[in-house]
Amino acid sequence: MTDIPRWPLPAMAFGGDWNPDQWPRETWRHDIALMQRAGVNLLSLPVFAWPQLEPDDGEYRTDWLAEILDALAEAGIGVALATGTATPPAWLVRAHPEMLPVRADGVRLGFGSRQSYCPSSPVFRAKVAALTTMMATRFGDHPALRLWHVSNEYGDHISRCWCEVCAASFRRWLLRRHGSLAGVNDAWGTKVWGQVYTDVAQIDVPRVTPGPDNPARLLDFERFSSDNVLELFTLELDILAELTPGVPRTTNFMGIFRDLDYWRFAAVEDVVSDDAYPDPGDDASHTGIALSYGLMRSLKDRPWLLIESAPSAVSWRPVNVPKAPGQLRAHALQAVAHGSDGAMFFQWRAARTGPERFHSALLGHRGEASRSFAEASALGGDLAALAPVAGSRVRSSVAIVVDWDTIWALRPDASLPAERSWHEEARRYHAALHALGLAVDSVAVPGSDLARYPVIVAPTLYVTTDEQAEALAGYVRGGGTLVVGPFSGVVDERERVHAGGPPGPLRDLLGVEVDEQWPLLDTETQVVQFESGARATPHDWAEWIEVADDVEVLAHYDGRPLHDRPAITRRRVGDGVAYYVSAGLSLDALTPWLHQVCAEAEIDVRMSANPSVEVVTRTDGVVDYVFVVNHAPIPAEARGPVDADVLLAPDGDPPVRRPSGLTITLPPFGVAVLRMPSPSESLHHVHSIEV
Ligand code: GAL
Ligand code: ZN
Repeated sequence: MTDIPRWPLPAMAFGGDWNPDQWPRETWRHDIALMQRAGVNLLSLPVFAWPQLEPDDGEYRTDWLAEILDALAEAGIGVALATGTATPPAWLVRAHPEMLPVRADGVRLGFGSRQSYCPSSPVFRAKVAALTTMMATRFGDHPALRLWHVSNEYGDHISRCWCEVCAASFRRWLLRRHGSLAGVNDAWGTKVWGQVYTDVAQIDVPRVTPGPDNPARLLDFERFSSDNVLELFTLELDILAELTPGVPRTTNFMGIFRDLDYWRFAAVEDVVSDDAYPDPGDDASHTGIALSYGLMRSLKDRPWLLIESAPSAVSWRPVNVPKAPGQLRAHALQAVAHGSDGAMFFQWRAARTGPERFHSALLGHRGEASRSFAEASALGGDLAALAPVAGSRVRSSVAIVVDWDTIWALRPDASLPAERSWHEEARRYHAALHALGLAVDSVAVPGSDLARYPVIVAPTLYVTTDEQAEALAGYVRGGGTLVVGPFSGVVDERERVHAGGPPGPLRDLLGVEVDEQWPLLDTETQVVQFESGARATPHDWAEWIEVADDVEVLAHYDGRPLHDRPAITRRRVGDGVAYYVSAGLSLDALTPWLHQVCAEAEIDVRMSANPSVEVVTRTDGVVDYVFVVNHAPIPAEARGPVDADVLLAPDGDPPVRRPSGLTITLPPFGVAVLRMPSPSESLHHVHSIEV
């Protein structure tokens, strides 16, 4: 990895995708003048222009791009230069139809959309390498170049392919991982249902099978497919590192995307960037998106970049709701609050043709008269005012374990006691912590610095290795508070149920043994009774657990079917505490309970009276920047005993200072940013701002 000592991009970055190649040349200068007016300083291009860059095999045309880049450099606008490899041109696909991806049911997909490639295809990889080399050679020292934008949203349409080339790569990958054919048979437990392979050539990618597939094979195929795309990414990264060593490299992520292990992707790139499209029609979408922003800032433990977002409506939901006035600003500044050093949009000018002609743009179909342009231009000013915030960290005292093995293994067709989803469980735990006013980071176990968080939550850690259990036990012994959700410690990395049953290697830490998983039907009346008197109805899951003598039972099951059995436990281990939650608790039950857990871990939390207002703090150790974001279409008020300057006023009434503190009235979707001296160097400090 190239070492990038400081944030390499304009602070704050502001701009978006521009596709000038889709427009007549006359519009270019006009667009650039409008960009300058709006304060744009960074553009992504030319993401889908492979056919324009290489109209025929090995015939490169770059003059048009050079002309555009020169004009941008002259205008002081930087470029996240796409390597252009996101979608292969028709001539290439026609000449090599074998590079088209194949689905699990054997259907080879046709040309006519984007990402029409098998990630393993040797011819595709060779042409990708050639185009990247050409781009780096031709534009590597261009003054507009700030960042390499490698490919685009890997896996958005194609992350898995079931073609023969992929099957051969899968076999090689398996031999590397398991050492030998015997190793594969052993890892997959192929004696069950007569699956034993006597020759490596017999092993195939998991196509559509007559009945349930082998879970270990499915999990290995997920890992292989993620690694395979990573190999494609690395191919480009290596070329760029060699030819343009000083230029940082990124590829745009898609939140906590199921198909690709972003811990591994982030490790090989220089800058983490993300595409985020919270649904303006969903009044809780700011909570969901905060979970992925937590991952983005944690992947490299430093600021990241919101490289794509929608100015208003997208064009890929069943119903594409536009953003209300002010919502563009609230969404963009929420990302900045959560550690993004900028806000960029898809796209600059609305396309008149193609599948995205109804997707919003900074210049909608009414051009500079569009509402988005006015709102975006104002945002450009806000981002410029927020320049001092760039490079600062987000204060956070709690983290969620994000682990792709568990994400992959909890698949609908994984033959489990009932359908489980990491995302659903994680969203619930995260939403509860979010409602307590906490900004939640993500951790990899092992890998991340766990000790820095007073509280770590594993909403469900179905796959648990001995190494992970050891890291978590070390964290607790050292004084950490660990919350482990249901269906954790169930299988090892080979999808093999741990000897003695769950929670496997977590048994000693939690002091719990699961006798049986007990998924609940809607008709059951199972209740969880807390010692505090509170009662909760688990939404879909319970477990029959046995507990060790030194384990405290904090809640038990009441009513059918697990009457009087322990439900939630606590064990003090070393200097810390380990909780086990055997029931699938709803948000309503989790919020007050996690409140208590956090309070006991000495995290300063308060139940927010208004879940639509987020308070998130960034700090550089000297100055704190407190973002107060109103995500609702109605005004809100925030108040606190704080002595602060207003770096960014909510576009409404200016904050009122009273002897007792500060009162801020936020208009619908209003955002204020306060500045004050950092009260503490610890990232755990929470400002007392009531909403
Ligand atoms: C992203 C993609 C962009 C554009 C955008 C529309 O997935 O990277 O090219 O399609 O979505 O929302
Ligand atoms: Zn393939």
